[in-house]
Amino acid sequence: MNSPVMQGLNLNTPAYVKNPKLIAWVAEMAALCKPANVYWCDGSEEEYDRLCQLLVDNGTFKKLNPAKRPGSFLACSDPSDVARVEDRTYICSEKKENAGPTNNWMAPAEMRQTLNPLFDGCMQGRTLYVVPFSMGPLGSHIAHIGIELTDSAYVAVNQKLMTRMGKAVFDVIGTDGEFVPCLHTVGAPLVNGAKDTTSWPCNPTVKYIVHYPETREIWSYGSGYGGNALLGKKCLALRIASSMGREQGWLAEHMLILGVTNPQGKKYHVAAAFPSACGKTNFSMLVPPEGFNGWKVTTIGDDIAWIKPQANGKMMAINPEAGYFGVAPGTNHHTNPNCMASLDKNVIFTNVALTDDGDVWWEGIEKDTGQLPDHLIDWQGKDWTPQIAKDTGAKAAHANARFTVSAINNPALDPAWDDAAGVSIDAFIFGGRRSTTVPLVTEARNWTEGVYMAATMGSETTAAAFGAQGVVRRDPFAMLPFCGYNMSDYFQHWLDVGAKVQAGGHKLPSIYCVNWFRKDEAGKFVWPGYGDNMRVLKWMIDRLEGQAQGQETIFGITPTYAELNWTGLSFTADQFKTVTSIDKAAWQQELQLHNTHFEQLAYNMPKALLDTKAALAQRLAAV
Ligand code: GTP
Ligand code: SPV
Ligand code: MN
Repeated sequence: MNSPVMQGLNLNTPAYVKNPKLIAWVAEMAALCKPANVYWCDGSEEEYDRLCQLLVDNGTFKKLNPAKRPGSFLACSDPSDVARVEDRTYICSEKKENAGPTNNWMAPAEMRQTLNPLFDGCMQGRTLYVVPFSMGPLGSHIAHIGIELTDSAYVAVNQKLMTRMGKAVFDVIGTDGEFVPCLHTVGAPLVNGAKDTTSWPCNPTVKYIVHYPETREIWSYGSGYGGNALLGKKCLALRIASSMGREQGWLAEHMLILGVTNPQGKKYHVAAAFPSACGKTNFSMLVPPEGFNGWKVTTIGDDIAWIKPQANGKMMAINPEAGYFGVAPGTNHHTNPNCMASLDKNVIFTNVALTDDGDVWWEGIEKDTGQLPDHLIDWQGKDWTPQIAKDTGAKAAHANARFTVSAINNPALDPAWDDAAGVSIDAFIFGGRRSTTVPLVTEARNWTEGVYMAATMGSETTAAAFGAQGVVRRDPFAMLPFCGYNMSDYFQHWLDVGAKVQAGGHKLPSIYCVNWFRKDEAGKFVWPGYGDNMRVLKWMIDRLEGQAQGQETIFGITPTYAELNWTGLSFTADQFKTVTSIDKAAWQQELQLHNTHFEQLAYNMPKALLDTKAALAQRLAAV
C-alpha cells in the first residue's frame, strides 16, 4: 500500500500494514495532531535500544550504571505529573446514567468539541509513534488489540515492556480485524521549531483521560505518566474492557492472578482485587515463610485480570499485560524478594532517586542493608541527605515512584502466564487498606454475600491517585477509578455471571474479604503482612479442600486461631484477636457508610444487595 501524504507529511506506512481502517485512522489523526514525523513501531530489540538512546540523548532517561543495573534507565517526571488524574478521567457514554455516579461524564459530542481544538496541532515538532499492541497472548480468542498513537517515546518503550508490542499485531488484525484506537499526546506542542525546555514534556494545567465506551475509543491529553499514558492498561484493559465484558458476559478486573501449589503438587488459582498501591504486586509474587516447605506461589499477573466463564463452569482468567508497572517505595528483599530479583536488569524506573554510583534508591530499600546512603539525587533532581530528610521530611523517591519491567524478569513467573486458554480461578479475594473495623479474613457464605463484601469495600486512599491520601473512601471491587460503566450495573453483572455458572450446575469460586492493614493504638500494623499473608492464603486453600471448619460470624466464616499455621512467627492469640475482632459500634458506623454508599449508587442497585445489607444490619443488631 502506498503511504498517503497528508499536508506534506509522509505517513511512512510499512508495506505489512494492510488494514485500510487503521491506515485511514492514522492519516486522520496525523492530520489533526500535525506531528513532524510518523514512525511505526515494530517492537524489535534494536528499536527499543534506539528509542531508549534517543530518550537518553534528550535528557528524559538517565542510563544507570551497567555494572549495578544493566540495561536500565531512570526517568523523572514533571512534579505536576506523578499519578493518575481521576478528576480528569471521563466516561463519555451517550447517556449519563450509563457512566453512573462514580464516573465523570460528558456527552460524547460535547467532549469531541472540547478535545478537537486541543488535539489540533498538539504534536507539532514531535514524532507520532504508532504503537501496535495486544492485550493478552497474540491471537488468543480472549485477547484484544489496541493501537496507540503517541508523541512520547517514553510511552513507546514502556509499552514494549508492558504489552505484546510489535508488528506481529498487524498480522492479527489483517485487513479487517478489530482494534481499539488509542490516541495520546503529552499536550506540549513545539510550535515554530521551538525546543523542549524540560525533559518531561506534559501539560501542567490541561489534562483529559477520555473513554468513549460505545465506540470503544480512548483519547488522552496532557500527561505522560502511567495509567494516564500507557493506554493499554487502565483505559483499555479495565475501562473499555469492563464495558465489553458486560456486553459479552465476561469480567475485566483490577486483580492480580496467582497460582498456589501445595506440597502434594496440587495447584489452585486465586484472583485478588486490592485498590491501587495496596499490595497486589506483593501478593502475586509472595514467597512463603518458614514452615511452609513445599508450598509455592507463582505469578500470572499483578494488576489486571480478564475472566471468561466457560460452558463447563470454569472461570478462565488471563493477564492481559506482559509486564509490571509497580510501586517502588516499600519494595525490598523482605517485603518482596521476587520483585527485587525482577529489578536486577532491563528496568525503566520513574521518579525514584539516583545514587552517587549510578544506581537507584527508594524509601524502604534501606531495610536490606540497615543503612541510609550519605547522598542521593532525589526524584526532582535535588540533593538529598539523611539530614535533609530529617529536617524537611523530603522523600528521595516520590511515593508513587514506579518500575516498568517485563514479566519474564520475574523468577516466580507461572509457566501458564502466557497461555492463551488462561487458568481456572478457584477463589476471589477482595481487600482494602483499613486501619480499623475490617477483620483479617472472612469467607463469604455465598456468591451474593461475596459480591456485597466487594461492593462495599472501603480503603484509605494512596499516592497512586493524584489527590488526598489516607482518607477512607468506598472503592467497590477496587474498581472505583476503573469501571467503564454504571457501578450498580457492574454489581448486577457480577451477580448475573455467578447465577449463570450456578444455573449450569457448576460450583462457583469462593469469595474472601481480607485486610492486612489493621493498626494498633501506636499506629503500627499488627499483621506482619507480605510473605506472612501465606498463612491466610493456606487457610483459604484448606477451606477449598474441606480441611478447615472456621467459625461463623455475622459476616461469614473466619479462621480460629488454631487453624492458621504459626510456624516461624510469634503471633499470640491476643494479637490475632486484635486483627480479627468485630467491634459492634464500629460496624454500626460502617453500615451507615454502606447506606450512604448505596444511596449514591441507588440507580439500578440490585435488590439482592439491598436485601443482603438489611440481613446484615439485622444480624449486627442481634449481637
Ligand atoms: P497498583 O500497581 O497501584 O495497582 O498497586 P498494587 O496493589 O500492585 O500495590 P503494591 O503491591 O505495589 O503495594 C504497594 C504498597 O503496599 C507498598 O507500600 C507496600 O509496602 C504495601 N504492602 C503490600 N503488601 C502489604 C502487606 O501485606 N502489609 C502491609 N502492611 N503493607 C503491604
Ligand atoms: C494503579 O494506580 O492502580 C496502577 C498504576 O496500577 S497506573 O498504571 O498508573 O494506573
Ligand atoms: Mn493497578
